[in-house]
Amino acid sequence: PIPVITIDGPTASGKGTVAHKVAEHLGFHLLDSGALYRLTALQALRRGTPLNDEHALAKLAEHLNISFTGDAIFLAHENVTDAIRQEEVGNTASKIAAFPTVRTALYGLQLGFRKTPGLVADGRDMGTVIFPHATLKVFLTASVAARAERRYKQLIGKGIPANMEDLLMDLKARDDRDTNRAIAPLVPAEGAHVLDTSEMTVETAVAQVLQWYAA
Ligand code: CDP
Repeated sequence: PIPVITIDGPTASGKGTVAHKVAEHLGFHLLDSGALYRLTALQALRRGTPLNDEHALAKLAEHLNISFTGDAIFLAHENVTDAIRQEEVGNTASKIAAFPTVRTALYGLQLGFRKTPGLVADGRDMGTVIFPHATLKVFLTASVAARAERRYKQLIGKGIPANMEDLLMDLKARDDRDTNRAIAPLVPAEGAHVLDTSEMTVETAVAQVLQWYAA
């Protein structure tokens, strides 16, 4: 079978960066599943779809016209790589991700990323729901303070104004929604290796994941 490494964890835990580097090192494909929820959210915000209209949101998710070129993400031929990273889009993504039919609509699309020679899948439910038989499952965490700090630097680095207090509040709200939702809540998958990266460099985290994979 085609190997799959799942990397799940809360917002700003560093899983995106770690997943990217692990995939690069192994020459594997990468699934940024959060991007799919963000793309659905962006589409909903632009179209003014009511964020409580589960049926309409699921339709949007089902008919996403997306493509990935290198690190760029396109929505119907428009490069939305930066647009989907906005905090508003992330917060909206976490709201609509609580709808079961939205998650179901994105299920098949995610499975399709499993191609030779292998896949690194980054998200919240990669190891619990989408790839429960993955070769290696990792759950990345970090303290709230460390994650807020990282998000702050990320935004400032991109020239986006950020405020630490707002970030902390958003981060906690997002954690709360992702952990307590009825469907696919954020929990370590059975058999997952848990890695706390609060005091760890990206390189160390990547090396640890690769070591687990090789073992
Ligand atoms: O970058 P960050 O961790 O903040 O967010 P993301 O991974 O891009 O995901 C955005 C939102 O989509 C999360 O807050 C989750 O609520 C949702 N999501 C999900 O429910 N399941 C996934 N597999 C990935 C993301």
